[in-house]
Amino acid sequence: MAAGDAAVAAALAGPGWAVVPAYLPALEVAALVAAQQARELAGEFRPAAVGAGQSRALRPEIRSDRIAWLQDAQCPAEAALLARLEALRVTLNRRLLLGLDELECQYAVYDPGAGYARHLDRSPRGAERVVSWVLYLNVGWQPGDGGELVLSTPAGEHRVEPRAGVLVTFLSAELAHEVRPAARPRLSLAGWFRRRPLPATVR
Ligand code: OGA
Ligand code: MN
Repeated sequence: MAAGDAAVAAALAGPGWAVVPAYLPALEVAALVAAQQARELAGEFRPAAVGAGQSRALRPEIRSDRIAWLQDAQCPAEAALLARLEALRVTLNRRLLLGLDELECQYAVYDPGAGYARHLDRSPRGAERVVSWVLYLNVGWQPGDGGELVLSTPAGEHRVEPRAGVLVTFLSAELAHEVRPAARPRLSLAGWFRRRPLPATVR
């Protein structure tokens, strides 16, 4: 277990969110940027939709990033990241008894001007998404570049610049958040640790 994972568990149990400033070293970030570019060239990215079920729709005024799901690792860096997140999942289960049994993972690209209005990651209908995480891949990000993640924490608004290697985690049902538009392309991996849905009878 990485020491940082225990700290993330403690933070999620306390304030409900955590920022790990150097979760990934620069070499791993560079390899994931290359992996993202390969998937971009392969035509894997699609405009991200909002809502679920019948109300699922493209609403660029709410959300205007492009995403590609990362299910099967296509290079060692992707495999290594999925393994690290798997270890984090196990630590969160051991320490917080969360019963997380799945990892969802997607690349997201916010082209200049794109954003994501304030939202919760857990839809009112489903309880599957328990812990959200975002890992930024933007080398050389400057304060004037924008693109901050604005977290509505119990102690007030907290802004995170999307700098390379930074990992943010938070409780999906509790922390509303927003992605501010950026002046340059903004690259990340984001996802959720999920619980299996309860049978309809006990929901
Ligand atoms: C999301 C999201 C935050 C970010 O994908 O649901 O809120 O900083 N992403 O990219
Ligand atoms: Mn979100």
